[in-house]
Amino acid sequence: MYQEELSFPHGFLWGSATAAHQVEGGNTNNNWHVWEHTSGKIAGAAIAGLACDWWNGRWQEDLAHAAQDGQNTHRLSVEWSRIEPQPGAWDEAALQHYRTMLQGIIRLGLKPFITLHHFTDPIWIYEKGGWENEETVEHFARYVEKTVAALGDLTDLWVTINEPTVYAFSGYMTAEFPPGKSDARAAFQVMRNMVKGHARAYRIIHQLQPHAMVGFAKHFRAMAPARPAFPLDRWVTNFSYNSFNNAFADALVTGKLKFALWKASIPDAIATQDYVGVNYYTRDLIKFKPLAFKDIFQERYYDPHAPLSENDFIADLPIGFYESLQWAQRYGLPIYVTENGVEDSRDVMRPHYLVAHLYQLWKALHDGMDIRGYMHWSQVDNFEWERAWTQRFGLWGLDVKTQQRVRRPSVDIYREICTRNAIPLDLIRRHAPELLDVL
Ligand code: FCB
Repeated sequence: MYQEELSFPHGFLWGSATAAHQVEGGNTNNNWHVWEHTSGKIAGAAIAGLACDWWNGRWQEDLAHAAQDGQNTHRLSVEWSRIEPQPGAWDEAALQHYRTMLQGIIRLGLKPFITLHHFTDPIWIYEKGGWENEETVEHFARYVEKTVAALGDLTDLWVTINEPTVYAFSGYMTAEFPPGKSDARAAFQVMRNMVKGHARAYRIIHQLQPHAMVGFAKHFRAMAPARPAFPLDRWVTNFSYNSFNNAFADALVTGKLKFALWKASIPDAIATQDYVGVNYYTRDLIKFKPLAFKDIFQERYYDPHAPLSENDFIADLPIGFYESLQWAQRYGLPIYVTENGVEDSRDVMRPHYLVAHLYQLWKALHDGMDIRGYMHWSQVDNFEWERAWTQRFGLWGLDVKTQQRVRRPSVDIYREICTRNAIPLDLIRRHAPELLDVL
């Protein structure tokens, strides 16, 4: 039936995604800078340092590559601590710097998709208790208003907050992110304030730009009970699925946040997304584990048949990507894939991961889902938070010392897909031949 290629709808957005702290370099006024220097939790005791040196202009090289290789969008974030280095004090030069960058991105033929909060907070926010403190909602709203007023003529695609649940889990439960707490109630508080912050941002953006498309980027973790016939495995999987995958997004429908043991009513959050943003990486099997109180009575592992990435961080399970899109579709809104990718410095797994995941994306479209774009994480290797430089997610490699970029073979695969707006069957034959049986 599909003789040559699996095609995508006209106008589909193809791109890659980055985040300010991970690529810009020189971000010394945020909580991650403090964390890198004090927590002892960063792999290799590394720091973001110069990162990919974007602030000094090297974004031009990376995004020129992206444009030459057929991409037509780029998701990037702006850094709150640069725009508002002190409470209420705006750095107009930083905003101008972002304007120049965005104008350059548009000239390259890439439509900017802007994230307003991607894991980092200004130090002054951090010192006031970050998102545990309800005042942060108002501070965030003021920053969003200023930033959208300054940049809004350059885009109408906005992500308010990247992965709020990961921010809350990693900072307040597993203690890998700042402030390094293990306090589920505090995590709930952070989620609650982030729902409020998102809702405020949504309304502010729409006041300034009625036609804008505003959403948040949801890290969807696919999950399944390890022993489906065993009720306790199903129960513990449901519990995690609801808290991790559903809580935040459902609050934007119902106005009620239900997270772990807690509930909050936030009526202002109702109907505050125009699209569902999905970040998908991998899929867990979950087994009930009595007495494992700290691990929420569970043990997680990957399907033993699935290939694992370089540091065993990601299992290549494209079916979970389809599940993430099915989950997103429940909200009845357009879907953007705001991140998807794999850590692989030698580019041995990425070709299969990319082609097999994009096949699932095509299948979801073919099954009638309204998906508008796909952004690969990432264009170039960048500073992977507490995993720092040990994980290499770039289509292009980065030599951190010399700042040299190294073209990986996957660039050519993605280029062919983006430029043709289709997956040529030949790529499937070469990189994911198991799919030929189902086509
Ligand atoms: C996501 C983050 C992104 C990047 C990828 C690998 O959770 O949003 O910044 O670190 O993981």
